[in-house]
Amino acid sequence: MTATEESVNMDEAIQEQLRLAIDPREFDGPEFRRDPFPLYKRLRDHHPIYQDLFHNNWVVSRYDDVVAVFQNNDDFDRGVYDPKGDYEFGRRHVFGPNILEYGNSDEHRFLRNVVADQFVGNRLQTFLPFIEQIAHELLTGFVPEVYRKSADDLAEEFAGTGEVELVGQFCNQFPIRVISNMLGLPREDEDTFVRWYQHLIEGLGFGGEHLARGLQARNEMWAYLDPMIREREANPTEDLVSRIVHAEFRGQRMNPDEIKGFIALLLAAGGDTTEKAIANMWYHMLYTRPDQFEHEIKRDPSLWTNVFTEMMRYDPVVHTQGRHTTREIRIHGEVIPERANIVMYLAAGNRDERVFKDPDTFDILRNDLHMGRELRSGRYADGKHGHLGFGMGQHFCMGYAMARQEAIIASTRLFEAMKNPRPKFRDHPGVTSPATGSGGFRTPEELWIEFDV
Ligand code: HEM
Repeated sequence: MTATEESVNMDEAIQEQLRLAIDPREFDGPEFRRDPFPLYKRLRDHHPIYQDLFHNNWVVSRYDDVVAVFQNNDDFDRGVYDPKGDYEFGRRHVFGPNILEYGNSDEHRFLRNVVADQFVGNRLQTFLPFIEQIAHELLTGFVPEVYRKSADDLAEEFAGTGEVELVGQFCNQFPIRVISNMLGLPREDEDTFVRWYQHLIEGLGFGGEHLARGLQARNEMWAYLDPMIREREANPTEDLVSRIVHAEFRGQRMNPDEIKGFIALLLAAGGDTTEKAIANMWYHMLYTRPDQFEHEIKRDPSLWTNVFTEMMRYDPVVHTQGRHTTREIRIHGEVIPERANIVMYLAAGNRDERVFKDPDTFDILRNDLHMGRELRSGRYADGKHGHLGFGMGQHFCMGYAMARQEAIIASTRLFEAMKNPRPKFRDHPGVTSPATGSGGFRTPEELWIEFDV
């Protein structure tokens, strides 16, 4: 090989390395917010453990590695703060003290157990008629003059409006009203809770005026809750607030701040995520797979359940979760030190071609994804894999079954109410991720739907 040929080869090798290298500022760019999947693929294929010096993170992106981190409580913890240390719980956080700040501790298990059974099984079943009712109320609300008409009349007249902006007129109202009623908050104050909730969610972002508004909403909500908590202390009821008030761990009840932090978290965790799930389902049906919408959903609306599961795989609401290492760990030849921040890209694991066939295709009929209920572990008895969108292991989403029910009930009722729904605009900016560190979730900002009149 001549010197020139050698230098050409070296140039090509360097070019190739440059093509595959990752500039950590990519994680902050608009392209990543719009379409993070090409970067996820480069991570999985060439940097399965990537040290991001710019954001001070170690990034995990393959399906099996994400599962392994979720399931290894000894080496990876979630609690960022020492509960007994100097940090004052909730001082700078809109939720106040809450379960998300606890690591893999007994306290965390206890807090989960206080309410976890409310969102699954029989308790959830008894609540389904109420979820139906809220969906119905919101649908009728799109056309105020037909409010309170029978469901049959309604479907026809609702369709008469011709269009709806689904995110603002339905999605960001529905789950928050469901969860606030489960908590036992009075129905006449529901609109006030929706407003507080919207400010709380804004306050999860970068700080500044958003945080100030969020903290103000939290303080107003806390002032509202104080007498309610005292009332439940004296006269227990069946609702969630009462349950949280009376829960005991090692002979101790939660203090009032912890109770309020728990309530605020449930409002936000139960509302913000599920509303975005419903919008994502509809976006992907109308824009990504209009063919499957036309031929499969219209033929068999029970397939909304598959739409939910495939959305949670293909483009879930929550793309990342964090942990930190409790000791030095070696993975894929990399040495991650103790107390290092780990970022798991759930949405990258969900597109791992080592697990799913044609992972970049949204397919509600795929046969390698478990379409039924979610489990805390990745593999199911039927040999299929689960999506990673609810996390796994000890911190596995508490509201997984409720979110699924809500999203399916909402989508089915919307589908019944709108004749021949279709996108109002041919071009759509798509589903976008929030800015890094903003605390938000991935969703379309607006979704205009047109239907026959
Ligand atoms: C589609 C909707 C939802 C998505 C995508 C979602 C996603 C998640 C994820 C990824 C986690 C894991 C956190 C971690 O590993 O650190 C989580 C935890 C949690 N979720 Fe959800 N969630 C949804 C709906 C709900 C609902 C409806 C509720 C309550 C009613 C809820 C309550 C919680 C709580 C309390 C935790 C903390 C659990 C723990 O730390 O043990 N979520 N969720």
